[in-house]
Amino acid sequence: MTKLGIIGSGAIGAGIARRAVAAGHHVLIANSRGPESLAGLVGELDELDELGGDARAGTVAEAAGFGEIVVLAVPLSAYDTLPVDALDGTTVLSTGNYYPSRDGRIEDLDAVVTTTAEYEQALLPGAVIVKAFNNILAHHIPALARPSGAPDRSGLAIAGDAVDAKRAVSALVDTLGFEPVDAGSLAQSWRFEPESGAYTTIYVADLDTFAKDYLADTGAPLPAERLREILAASHRADVASRAF
Ligand SMILES: NC(=O)c1ccc[n+]([C@@H]2O[C@H](COP(=O)([O-])OP(=O)(O)OC[C@H]3O[C@@H](n4cnc5c(N)ncnc54)[C@H](OP(=O)(O)O)[C@@H]3O)[C@@H](O)[C@H]2O)c1
Repeated sequence: MTKLGIIGSGAIGAGIARRAVAAGHHVLIANSRGPESLAGLVGELDELDELGGDARAGTVAEAAGFGEIVVLAVPLSAYDTLPVDALDGTTVLSTGNYYPSRDGRIEDLDAVVTTTAEYEQALLPGAVIVKAFNNILAHHIPALARPSGAPDRSGLAIAGDAVDAKRAVSALVDTLGFEPVDAGSLAQSWRFEPESGAYTTIYVADLDTFAKDYLADTGAPLPAERLREILAASHRADVASRAF
């Protein structure tokens, strides 16, 4: 089982932590407020230990140094506060997206000179960034996770430049309940960025419900083969016009 450091304990970080402990992995989770603030979540995670998984809280530096894989589930604006040296040589599963209203405007992303994943890689040069879980809403993760071989299992896009790191993240994603789908390199990860053709609505069950109250949408399985088609047909977003 994998040692997983998770930085960020919000919707995505906690969602991945739940799936990871339930799958038997060893999790050390951190946030910006410190380990004490995570007592409730760790108590909840401890209830999911049937397969031998466990969780504890730590500092951001401890999470960065703990994992065979480190999950980043923080806003893009927080990436430049992360401990660069501690992540040196580490496989980093990045869930980040660029939301200008939250992260501030970033010239190279607006000008589509670079993808968000490449931008993150430049901020954390020693880390080995692999992109995943950035294009699925947090509440759709538990709703759609299925064991390997289930007929209604969904695919999940994974992009990265390093073969070994991508393989490790794919194996992790498989245990978390999704069929890994190779979406190419970090440069190609625009295919599943916000407003592309393969962002979060691909997992929506009912677009009307979703439009009224996105959290009320139950999610619909998306077979890996269909995800491959959607990724192939995706379009690059006009990032400079992004209004959220
Ligand atoms: N929510 C979704 O459905 C969703 C889906 C796909 C991708 N994403 C992307 O995933 C990332 C995380 O999103 P989220 O919705 O999980 O965010 P969130 O609920 O707002 O949680 C963000 C987490 O990051 C932590 N954090 C912020 N700055 C930090 C720093 N400098 N050092 C350490 N921890 C820090 C926060 O700590 P505190 O708890 O102490 O404040 C919090 O735990 C974002 O890039 C988002 O765009 C989100």
